Amino acid sequence: MKEVRVAIVGAGWMGRAHATAFRTVPMVFGREPAMPVLEVVADVNEGAAKALAEEFGFARWTTDWRDVLGDPRVDVVDITTPNDLHPPIAIAAAEAGKHVYCEKPLANTAAEAKAMTDAAEKAGVVTLVGFNYLKNPGQGFAKAIIDKGEIGAVNLFRGTFDQDFMSDPDVPFSWRQDRKIAGSGALGDMASHTLSYSQYLVGEIDEVCGMTGTFIKERRVAAGGSGHSAKATADAPRRAVENDDVVQFLIRYTSGAMGVIEASRIGTGRKLWLTYEIQGSKGALFYTQERMNEVQLYRHTEPAAERGYKTVFIGPEHPNYGAFFPIPGIGLGYNDQKIIEAHDLVVAIATGKKAFPDFRFGLEINRVVDAVLKSVDERRWVKISEIA
Ligand SMILES: NC(=O)c1ccc[n+]([C@@H]2O[C@H](COP(=O)([O-])OP(=O)(O)OC[C@H]3O[C@@H](n4cnc5c(N)ncnc54)[C@H](O)[C@@H]3O)[C@@H](O)[C@H]2O)c1
Repeated sequence: MKEVRVAIVGAGWMGRAHATAFRTVPMVFGREPAMPVLEVVADVNEGAAKALAEEFGFARWTTDWRDVLGDPRVDVVDITTPNDLHPPIAIAAAEAGKHVYCEKPLANTAAEAKAMTDAAEKAGVVTLVGFNYLKNPGQGFAKAIIDKGEIGAVNLFRGTFDQDFMSDPDVPFSWRQDRKIAGSGALGDMASHTLSYSQYLVGEIDEVCGMTGTFIKERRVAAGGSGHSAKATADAPRRAVENDDVVQFLIRYTSGAMGVIEASRIGTGRKLWLTYEIQGSKGALFYTQERMNEVQLYRHTEPAAERGYKTVFIGPEHPNYGAFFPIPGIGLGYNDQKIIEAHDLVVAIATGKKAFPDFRFGLEINRVVDAVLKSVDERRWVKISEIA
């Protein structure tokens, strides 16, 4: 039986989610065309690396990600570190001939994302970026509806990603507020997911015009934990927040369609308000990740007296759902999207095909993020073509 041997770099929240996904792939999708094998985990935090290795049964662990590059027992390097480490690890991994699975955003700048894409394409390795919300069977359904012309020509995309995990000013400073590590804030961390819907479902963006705001100016410095698990004492010194809590931007698509995206990490009341409404000439779609097992579909072609949004529950008729359950309505969860994502990667590697969304897809999102930042700096509309 073929194997795809995985090195995970970064044993935090996403490292754990990816390990869970790889372990579960054969139980949901079977052992063909290849079995994922948890080979090695790398984390600068020795305790985190050791704990993940022991809990999930990795063969080895290390505190230096460079150890995995020359390891002939590794087929794919899976990057789940904070954002600034994605480029050096991905480029080194591709140059070492390893396939690369990288968390989003692909990089903090389009230039870095371009260097990663070039390195991976030159090496001919499979790449996949962790825009896992695209893996919800509901998104495959929405795409098919649009592609079949059922909602007609798309006029408007309205997308959001609001969460209130940083609404409390007592939540400590973490790497997500450090511009050098995270790049932008709500824009790169959250709106990049909304952009993945926009790019998948509506298409190429021509120009953007944005604004950003930072409402909680400083936060207590954490003494331990990483990312969302950071912990600070009440008397800890404070540090200035270096990126956006909130972003809003207008979009003009190449097709002529219009759009708007808003994201907030201090979006009080919203937990995973990752949404889109897509309005077309013949119908519309609405989706929110807070109700991830439902897609709302509206057909303007129905008799006038019967028109209205209807709820489509995801089910075995939609991509990949059937691997989990034989009937609709049971419901998938966040980790199931990661299981589908990990399976897609394993299949691509085992069959020598491309995975989706690949680095080039991630690069296009980085170009839009850079264009929004340029627009904010220069207080004007910016064409995506201005970003190399
Ligand atoms: N796709 C999604 O839904 C989703 C959700 C959360 C995070 N993410 C992305 O995943 C990545 C990680 O986020 P997280 O929330 O898991 O972060 P985290 O802070 O929980 O974990 C990051 C881990 O990386 C480790 N690390 C730091 N420097 C390292 C180095 N030099 N070598 C090896 N390990 C190192 C840290 O010790 C930590 O264990 C980010 O890029 C983030 O944007 C994606």
